[in-house]
Amino acid sequence: MRIPNYKLVTTIIFVQPLIIRRNPSTPNYFKARQDLGPFSNLQATAKHSHNHAFEQQVRPMYDYAKLLHLIAGIVWMGGMTFMLFALRPAALGVLDAQPRAVLMGQVWKRFYVWVLVAIVVLFTTGTHLYTATFRAAKMATGQGGVPLGWNIMLVLGITMMLIFGHIYFAGFKKYKRAVASGEWPLAARAAGLIHTMTLINFTLGWLAILAVRLVR
Ligand code: HEM
Repeated sequence: MRIPNYKLVTTIIFVQPLIIRRNPSTPNYFKARQDLGPFSNLQATAKHSHNHAFEQQVRPMYDYAKLLHLIAGIVWMGGMTFMLFALRPAALGVLDAQPRAVLMGQVWKRFYVWVLVAIVVLFTTGTHLYTATFRAAKMATGQGGVPLGWNIMLVLGITMMLIFGHIYFAGFKKYKRAVASGEWPLAARAAGLIHTMTLINFTLGWLAILAVRLVR
């Protein structure tokens, strides 16, 4: 396996989303992607590059990375769905403020470990999918490029991760302190902040998924 070029990776993560657009000089890449369906980015580019070594070495990694990426996305999005639409309304409906506050603290403590792991997996696999395809397109056509929807996912994904950092450090830390010292109004305010930011992340997550599936 080739050693990744970290300068290239860093540039792609931070600069490419701002400048990459659908590249009209790479029609084969997009045409092949359309012909072969949504899971065919790498097959398409590798086919055009006639680079079998590339296909043999990178392709299996790509498939595993994508599987892990999907699993992590499902864990995070599914957890938010459950929290926003089942657990929270049920807790609001049947529990008084104090036991509810204790319950939610315990729930978040456990769920956020899963989110942290999901974030690490989403980021590492996502940037791998992105850079592997970018390079394959470059090999195939002489010019790198990925669909606009992928850049949208990159930007929204990183935004979600930053928002989660805020949920964890600004919201959850405050919440735990407030519950521990019995300052219930403060705890309620921190819970409100966590709820709003979770709603925002949930929305951004779906926008990212829509973009990666529909925007070429
Ligand atoms: C740094 C952040 C991220 C990057 C760089 C990234 C990158 C990518 C790329 C390049 C693909 C396309 C793979 C392909 O079509 O072969 C993809 C697919 C996907 N991503 Fe992300 N992603 C990121 C974050 C997220 C997040 C936060 C979620 C959801 C919570 C997510 C959910 C998905 C899903 C469900 C797909 C599958 C779409 C499909 O089947 O084509 N990603 N991602």
